[in-house]
Amino acid sequence: MDTPTFDAPSVIATKRDGGALSDAQIDWIIDGYTHGRVAEEQMSALLMAIYLRGMTPAEIARWTAAMVGSGQRFDFTDLRRDGKPLALVDKHSTGGVGDKITIPLLPVVMACGGAVPQASGRGLGHTGGTLDKLEAIRGFSAELSKNQIRQQLCEQGAAIFAAGELAPADRKIYALRDVTATVGSLPLIASSVMSKKLAEGARALVLDVKVGRGAFLKTEPESRELAQTMVDLGNANGVPTRALLTDMNRPLGYAVGNAIEVAESLDVLAGGGPADVVALTLELATEMLAAAGIDGVDPADTLRDGSAMDRFRALIAAQGGDLSVALPVGAASETVTADRAGVLGDLDAMGVAMAAWRLGAG
Ligand code: URA
Repeated sequence: MDTPTFDAPSVIATKRDGGALSDAQIDWIIDGYTHGRVAEEQMSALLMAIYLRGMTPAEIARWTAAMVGSGQRFDFTDLRRDGKPLALVDKHSTGGVGDKITIPLLPVVMACGGAVPQASGRGLGHTGGTLDKLEAIRGFSAELSKNQIRQQLCEQGAAIFAAGELAPADRKIYALRDVTATVGSLPLIASSVMSKKLAEGARALVLDVKVGRGAFLKTEPESRELAQTMVDLGNANGVPTRALLTDMNRPLGYAVGNAIEVAESLDVLAGGGPADVVALTLELATEMLAAAGIDGVDPADTLRDGSAMDRFRALIAAQGGDLSVALPVGAASETVTADRAGVLGDLDAMGVAMAAWRLGAG
């Protein structure tokens, strides 16, 4: 059967007027935008209509499937280590402030026997991206070929890579959302996260869904619905998925900004670091190990005995990074001293994120 064709204004008008997009309309618009037949201004208008009108669960599922179908889907189930299939598991956060958790978490899971294919993103809106943070390490590259990813998964137990050929529709839409004030939309967040994660080849997935002032969705009911939507998408697509709702009213840890977040992650891997970063790292590691069917190991041991740090050093070196070179420091610094003694009772994550963004962290 021939694929039906549409025109972008009528697809936009359907959503602008509160209607549901048909499967064929969704497939057509995603394919057209990925291949440059639908213009940036047309996709911008559609994203705003989705932001304002929302999507039904059926629309979200089809939009996600169309984004997965816009590129390759990796399959690593043939890979073996010591003759056994890899315990392929990944995590993704919906975006926070000072959220450097992926950096200490991956080596903890690697040290416990997991294998993590981690398709990472860049900063979005007021939140930082794992790739931007890791690129503060001299020489680090996330531009890995599929063969390099396969080799690293077997030899190191993880690969951190730019999504590249995975869900290219998301790559374009992600960048467009960032400049059209359409980031904080449940259907657009759910489909963005899940298109990459379904395409990257993990066999199980743990989601860290943020809630609070520094999250894209501020209230618990909204974040809970986002979590449930993504869990349903993962399970429906054969990737067992679980989610944690975690607090994002205050920044995670003490550092917000690319290089200083890497430094704080190294503190965690060295057995120190802020208590909230350590706690969330271990909580997510516990979920990832359970999802991957790994038992009988305590992730906290890997921070105490240095095995997570060893894994991190090996992973960064495999991706060209040189941890012996000092991390970059900001061009200017200023100390703000309190004019009287007291206890800091609150710190608005969004205010801190905007300050870091204006200083160049975005
Ligand atoms: N992470 C993503 O990959 N996409 C979003 O929309 C938000 C967080």
